[in-house]
Amino acid sequence: MNASSPIGIFDSGIGGLTVVQSVMKALPNETVIYFGDSARVPYGVKSPETINRYAAEITEFLKNQDVKMILIACNTVSAVAGETVHKIAGNIPVLDVLSAGAKAATNTGSSNIGVIGTLATINSGAYSNSIRNLNPAAEVKSKACPLLVPLAEEGWTKNDIARETLKIYLSDFMDNGIDTLILGCTHYPLFKESIIHLFGEKNISVIDSGDAISDMARNTLKEKNLLNTSEKTGEFRCFVSDRPQRFQELAERFLGTPIDSVNTLSL
Ligand code: DGL
Repeated sequence: MNASSPIGIFDSGIGGLTVVQSVMKALPNETVIYFGDSARVPYGVKSPETINRYAAEITEFLKNQDVKMILIACNTVSAVAGETVHKIAGNIPVLDVLSAGAKAATNTGSSNIGVIGTLATINSGAYSNSIRNLNPAAEVKSKACPLLVPLAEEGWTKNDIARETLKIYLSDFMDNGIDTLILGCTHYPLFKESIIHLFGEKNISVIDSGDAISDMARNTLKEKNLLNTSEKTGEFRCFVSDRPQRFQELAERFLGTPIDSVNTLSL
């Protein structure tokens, strides 16, 4: 592994392309290998045992691709299988969206933080633990929002149904004084505009873990002398375990640009 080696990024499906988008913007000269487990998505409703097994298989795959760093783009994997990934990755540095999001939220100086995520992420308590490790005085309120994943995939992030759904899920947060909200799921950055609109004058800080992990990745690569200093734009190599219906449409929605080529691979 050296500075020209790729960065490996993985997620339970295509949603992690929101993280790829942030990373490619922050580190345009890096080559990125992405694995999206689209055959087995969603992870957010599965048991910790299953999520750990899947995460182990993907980490082995990325390790074999000679990556210089692994970014866990999936909040659910970060919440319940981070240790497994670290163990298999060995000396390859591993960063995850959950630690990055928790750090970015506490860096705002806030002590009243809300977190939204999948059922597995919220039930694990991992965000609360991570935030309280950084700031023991922080009040953390969490809410699982399982309907937001299918809504984002349907492209319904700004219509009446999205607004009503957000209103119901976030109603507890509206009156209890949170001033920072972590979008603890790959799909939720697509709702950012609607969420900011919903909170209106309350003016909360909304934390996008994709941006947070990109900053962390840049700092870690710099520290380890692994930043790619080439002038050339990095490549994007995309692997998925299934090519679902409407793949291009979905990929473009999460990545922001079309994907030229994609490899299908079952682990
Ligand atoms: N990628 C997952 C996450 O960030 C959301 C989709 C799923 O449930 O697998 O938690």
